[in-house]
Amino acid sequence: MRKLTYFVAVSIDGFIGGPDGDGRFFTEYVDEEFLEYLKAEFPETMPTHGRRMLGIDDLENRQFDTVVQGRASYDLALEIDVTSPYAHLRQYVASRTVEKSPDPAVEIISEDLTGRIRALKEEEGPLGVYLCGGSRLAGELVDEIDELVLKTYPLVLGSGMPLFASGFGFRRFALESVRTFGNGAVVSRYSRTR
Ligand SMILES: NC(=O)c1ccc[n+]([C@@H]2O[C@H](COP(=O)([O-])OP(=O)(O)OC[C@H]3O[C@@H](n4cnc5c(N)ncnc54)[C@H](OP(=O)(O)O)[C@@H]3O)[C@@H](O)[C@H]2O)c1
Repeated sequence: MRKLTYFVAVSIDGFIGGPDGDGRFFTEYVDEEFLEYLKAEFPETMPTHGRRMLGIDDLENRQFDTVVQGRASYDLALEIDVTSPYAHLRQYVASRTVEKSPDPAVEIISEDLTGRIRALKEEEGPLGVYLCGGSRLAGELVDEIDELVLKTYPLVLGSGMPLFASGFGFRRFALESVRTFGNGAVVSRYSRTR
């Protein structure tokens, strides 16, 4: 059984972006130390165009071989004319409105999202499934999430897009590891307790 891991950048007060979801301001925290960490531990979570700019598009996947994102998150790539933002991963985009995928490397999941995610998790293999976000997709899949990796940056936003757009409920996690960085970021890894 493979894990579904929500790997995400978040403010201290639990927002993944401003009210419109834009979280580009988090990138100001990606200094040399943090970038080295991402390159060593999670290189596949960087989009292909970013990896190419950094000259690291040959780095092997460490944690994930598949990515799932919501249509609104995928739109951000389309806005910059990138139709295959994670070309080094198998890519799925959840959408009920997109009829045809703009890229042969990206599969649209329009029906039975939970069933499709469970099928991906049931595949054999050493690497897991990267739940990229955003908030609405994470809210829909909250009960399928096996692992959380939160990149918490030292920033309070007051309001914004929550980590999960989901209803109230207790979903318990156990803290597996914490790593702190000179830029004030904390990366916390939690596993689901069932
Ligand atoms: N901080 C971070 O690390 C991080 C990471 C990722 C994203 N983000 C931010 O998140 C924002 C987008 O988040 P969001 O919550 O607005 O949208 P989202 O979760 O990216 O996408 C929502 C869309 O996914 C589709 N969807 C959701 N549930 C579905 C289901 N059960 N079956 C089929 N399709 C389903 C729907 O698409 P249709 O409307 O087409 O049906 C829905 O409108 C972006 O602004 C991005 O910057 C931040």
